[in-house]
Amino acid sequence: MGAGGWGCRGGREVLLAMDGAAMVGWARAQADVAMAYVTSRGGAVGIARDAYPYATAVLASIALFNVSAYLFPLFISWMYSGANLKRRYGAEWAVVTGSSSGIGKAIAMALARQGISVVLVALDDQLLSATFKDLKKAFPAVAFRKVGVNLAASDGSYMGPIAEATADIKVQLLFNNAGYIKTSFFHLSDLAAQLANLECNATSAVRITHHFYQRMMRDGMRGGIVFTSSAAGFIPSPFASMYGATKAFISEFSACLAVEAKASGIDVVAVHPSPVNSNFLRGAADLDMFKKAYAAATGPDSLPGPIFGALACGMTPWRDIGTFAIFMRIVMKILDFSFMTWGFALAAPLMPDYKNNMKKAN
Ligand SMILES: NC(=O)c1ccc[n+]([C@@H]2O[C@H](COP(=O)([O-])OP(=O)(O)OC[C@H]3O[C@@H](n4cnc5c(N)ncnc54)[C@H](OP(=O)(O)O)[C@@H]3O)[C@@H](O)[C@H]2O)c1
Repeated sequence: MGAGGWGCRGGREVLLAMDGAAMVGWARAQADVAMAYVTSRGGAVGIARDAYPYATAVLASIALFNVSAYLFPLFISWMYSGANLKRRYGAEWAVVTGSSSGIGKAIAMALARQGISVVLVALDDQLLSATFKDLKKAFPAVAFRKVGVNLAASDGSYMGPIAEATADIKVQLLFNNAGYIKTSFFHLSDLAAQLANLECNATSAVRITHHFYQRMMRDGMRGGIVFTSSAAGFIPSPFASMYGATKAFISEFSACLAVEAKASGIDVVAVHPSPVNSNFLRGAADLDMFKKAYAAATGPDSLPGPIFGALACGMTPWRDIGTFAIFMRIVMKILDFSFMTWGFALAAPLMPDYKNNMKKAN
């Protein structure tokens, strides 16, 4: 006979007695000890039956606090949806990158509706010219400027035209929104194209933010800085690794700045939208998992309200927007990131996208 035990009831120790054959391993014990693990040295670790209610209460409190700390600020942020940023910051001018279409264009229009003038920054193409013309026509009392630049240029040469076009105005609102996705197995992709994606989605936002944030601080201006990130930044994003990584980067970067900037009256927010129908889909049309996720996509016009709310409420440095992003955040609270990635990696070869990419590889 081997013996070892742990447990307590009214100060009385409870010992476990085990047959030699069951010396090491899980054992169900009699009396007050519900379950015990018996070690090779004959010691045991167990749970006393009357500790159950306490353990349950402690675990439930932790879970409740975790979910409430997420949902309560989200609710307050939602209450602020569509907040008036002109009133909050006394803002006259905003810079919106990627404002020739999709979410950026919707943000520019929502700002103009509040009487805030907008500098549109996007690729120097027909789309930018058309949006610039549309906005001027729709909001004749509001001033617009356009800067046509390639934010994927690795030398940061886009900063010259942006700085020049904004030298004489006070920019209190900055929306780092330009971005796109490239899909394929990473090893099959072109490195230069991946690095261009990194520049546009992440590095350009660093350069642009450095420029305008420094000016806001120097001139003691209140204001807001927003990064359009994505749920892809907090879940593994296979076949779009650079996209997921750039979004993780800007969310983290944004959170760090949020802490530095708040006391100076500057709100910094990263938003994680759920799928939105926009030109963005052109870059991801060949992914099966995107087609499934985009079945319930919303339009870009639903985004500015919650984005402005996130800035104005000041309680959500990370603002998940829409069912998909909120659901995935709660899943990530339950499943550890490494555990989730491991499970995903095991299951990945069964995915149609994985098989399609394997076909391309061979
Ligand atoms: N759509 C979604 O489901 C979704 C979900 C989560 C996050 N997001 C993020 O939301 C942001 C906006 O995307 P969207 O859905 O509105 O897509 P979109 O309609 O394609 O808009 C992207 C904007 O970025 C501009 N842009 C792209 N590459 C550029 C470059 N190299 N230089 C300068 N400007 C460039 C585009 O200009 P051109 O049109 O001229 O190329 C366009 O104005 C992106 O950062 C995206 O990652 C989108």
